[in-house]
Amino acid sequence: MANLTGKKIIVVGGSSGIGFGVAAAALEDGAEVVIVGRSAQKLKAAEKRLGGAGRVTGIAADMANEADVARLFEEAGVFDHLVATAGTPPPNYPIGETDMEFVRQFVDGKLIGAVMLAKHAARMLNKGGSMIFTSGINKDRPPVPGGSVVSAVAGSFTYFARALALELAPTRVNIVSPGWVDTEMWDEIVGEAKAGYFDQMGTRIPSGRIAKPADIAPAYLYLMQNEFMTGETIHIDGGQRLV
Ligand SMILES: NC(=O)c1ccc[n+]([C@@H]2O[C@H](COP(=O)([O-])OP(=O)(O)OC[C@H]3O[C@@H](n4cnc5c(N)ncnc54)[C@H](OP(=O)(O)O)[C@@H]3O)[C@@H](O)[C@H]2O)c1
Repeated sequence: MANLTGKKIIVVGGSSGIGFGVAAAALEDGAEVVIVGRSAQKLKAAEKRLGGAGRVTGIAADMANEADVARLFEEAGVFDHLVATAGTPPPNYPIGETDMEFVRQFVDGKLIGAVMLAKHAARMLNKGGSMIFTSGINKDRPPVPGGSVVSAVAGSFTYFARALALELAPTRVNIVSPGWVDTEMWDEIVGEAKAGYFDQMGTRIPSGRIAKPADIAPAYLYLMQNEFMTGETIHIDGGQRLV
């Protein structure tokens, strides 16, 4: 497969976690990378950590805000691949205690945001380009109680990609569905208890440990580079769906 030299990749969520790992791997493979997040400060720090010899640009934008999304693609110009990993911790309370405002914000940031990205990205994508969105293990192994909203949102991505792959062809549209990955999001959700959670899950899953972003990034690179992959969901979870 071709490497990514000469290709321009936009990574929404590239200032942290899985997206940062994709940005680092794409740079390693020769691409020019635009990283996107809401915090300009986090973007600056990520640009510095990535290095990239002038091949990294940060653009601050909120994917839940359509004016921001439109401006993002104006500023970024034509490009080859869109990767969206952005997301915030999901709701985690029983259905009877659902905070509807929090749920709306979560769905806006993750699902409606993906629709807005696809809407505005489509006209700026070079021929042969692709879009990759991120779902996750919570649709397959939902946390109980409290997993219904994140499960519904993550599950919907598979069908979003299938329909969009037909509508936007020959642009390809795919999904990566990771298992647990050791990222900053976990620090926010469970803080210092993270190591204990990961040790326990590591002993249960076939891979024997929790993934790092660098373990997941090759799935995104594969979907960018393989011209026959479209409308597909790749699960990369160390066998977590099996236990
Ligand atoms: N980590 C896991 O175990 C895991 C497993 C399966 C699925 N996932 C999913 O993968 C995605 C990424 O998770 P992660 O662990 O990499 O999270 P993370 O380390 O917290 O990174 C999230 C990134 O998204 C950006 N972001 C959040 N909301 C945004 C918005 N509205 N507009 C633009 N950028 C936004 C953040 O920057 P700002 O805060 O500056 O905006 C940051 O760059 C999430 O949707 C998560 O549900 C994660």
